Amino acid sequence: MKAIILYDSRSAGGSTEKFIDSVGTKLAEKGAYVEKAKCKSTGDFSFVKDFDLVILGAPIYYMIVSSQLLGALMQSNLKQFIQGKKVALFLACGSPEPMANLLYLPQLELNLAGTTILAERILAPHQLTNPEIIEKFVNDVFTAYSKK
Ligand SMILES: Cc1cc2nc3c(=O)[nH]c(=O)nc-3n(C[C@H](O)[C@H](O)[C@H](O)COP(=O)(O)O)c2cc1C
Repeated sequence: MKAIILYDSRSAGGSTEKFIDSVGTKLAEKGAYVEKAKCKSTGDFSFVKDFDLVILGAPIYYMIVSSQLLGALMQSNLKQFIQGKKVALFLACGSPEPMANLLYLPQLELNLAGTTILAERILAPHQLTNPEIIEKFVNDVFTAYSKK
């Protein structure tokens, strides 16, 4: 497995970065090659072609997926290079899960036609550093990756 974690957050060293670092470490422990990249809406994402698993995630700020990840999906060549890839999603937010499923996840999903979504997870801020939640997310991704 070659995995790239594409993320955005306004907080350097914040809860999102802690989460992706833990996810990356767990994936690497399971034998995956892992890199991470902070998104820019104007970025060149041609490097994504070298990976077979793409993990996408960001916090919600003011009801919108953090702008550089959403912008990358809507404006850059990310959509082109993510085609045919296995994808896992996470969102960090303070809202209850039903609201996040209804209002926030579709912001990502609508931009992921042509991909296979292996796992989707809504995480409250306190869950982002919970080892059991991190382990479950990584295990779910691994299991779905092996099946699909
Ligand atoms: C300025 C700001 C706006 C936020 N707006 C929302 C929101 O509209 N909906 C929501 O569910 N959570 C909202 N949150 C909660 C964040 O999504 C959550 O705390 C997240 O874990 C922050 O990630 P970070 O530490 O990487 O910045 C907001 C947080 C901040 C700081």
